[in-house]
Amino acid sequence: MPSSTVIRAFFRELFVKQTALRESEPDLVMDDPEKVGAYTRAGREDGVMAPVYLFHCAQICEVIKPGDTVLDLGCGPATQLAIVARLNRNTNFIGMDLSSEMLSRAREYAGEQNLKNIEFRQGDITRLSELADRSIDAVMSTVVLHHLPDLNALERTFAEIKRILKPGGGVYLVDFGHLKSEKSIHDFAYQYADRQAELFTLDYLYSLRAAFWPNDFKALYEKHLGEVGKFYRTFAMPYMMAIKSPVRREFDPVLRNQLSALIKGMPDFHQADLKDLMLFFKLGGLKTVYL
Ligand SMILES: C[S@@+](CC[C@H](N)C(=O)[O-])C[C@H]1O[C@@H](n2cnc3c(N)ncnc32)[C@H](O)[C@@H]1O
Repeated sequence: MPSSTVIRAFFRELFVKQTALRESEPDLVMDDPEKVGAYTRAGREDGVMAPVYLFHCAQICEVIKPGDTVLDLGCGPATQLAIVARLNRNTNFIGMDLSSEMLSRAREYAGEQNLKNIEFRQGDITRLSELADRSIDAVMSTVVLHHLPDLNALERTFAEIKRILKPGGGVYLVDFGHLKSEKSIHDFAYQYADRQAELFTLDYLYSLRAAFWPNDFKALYEKHLGEVGKFYRTFAMPYMMAIKSPVRREFDPVLRNQLSALIKGMPDFHQADLKDLMLFFKLGGLKTVYL
């Protein structure tokens, strides 16, 4: 059963007229050491983002294969990327971010876990000029695109993804969607305020305010990535939206067992969060055999 905050937001979003405006992130590139520290802690395996990371990990596992080179756009501290890389040791990953502070955290985090299959690069996701056309097997990106300043930057990023992706390549791009009411945005951001640092709560609030409107995001997806994957959003209340290519690998039972063990190891409140996200995305058409 979704939490009362989610249920209230669901009904509010169904009936409310659009009140909130898109406001760019105050920190487009995340370089402040304290904020990066708060974000990294929230992304650790006992952190508040753990259930969401497991959801995205399961989705990503379906669109990447052993032997692939996978580009993670805006890898941040690599807390999401590390889970994917650990479960896919025969896949090579490039983690890209513009922030040196994030990249230094990412190197430390991957080092702690002895992950040898990730290379980190400093780069701007809107200009992938160092990467040749059709050179990458799959592209992943989790909660990054709302950091772009405007729709032009989003469009450049989508066009670049299309350019560097090999034919038949995989894609999983997920981000927040803009909610209509500022009250819903506020309630989502503060839902877990007691479980996380104040800086992270504020970061989440700014992220939800900076999210693109689903219709704008979808229009640019259709223009550049419509042949690569499908567009999904959480049912009725598009607080998250994703572009996912068709499944590119055979079902791997070992992977499924590993993901199940990670889920069972989470506290009940994280398992409940994961169920909410699975439910809202499933009703929006996005499923995975790994959950
Ligand atoms: C909210 S974090 C997401 C990190 C990670 N993907 C995750 O799921 O935890 C957004 C990241 O995007 C990076 N970023 C923002 N704009 C960027 C750009 N134009 N090029 C590369 N990285 C960018 C920020 O520095 C930050 O590390």
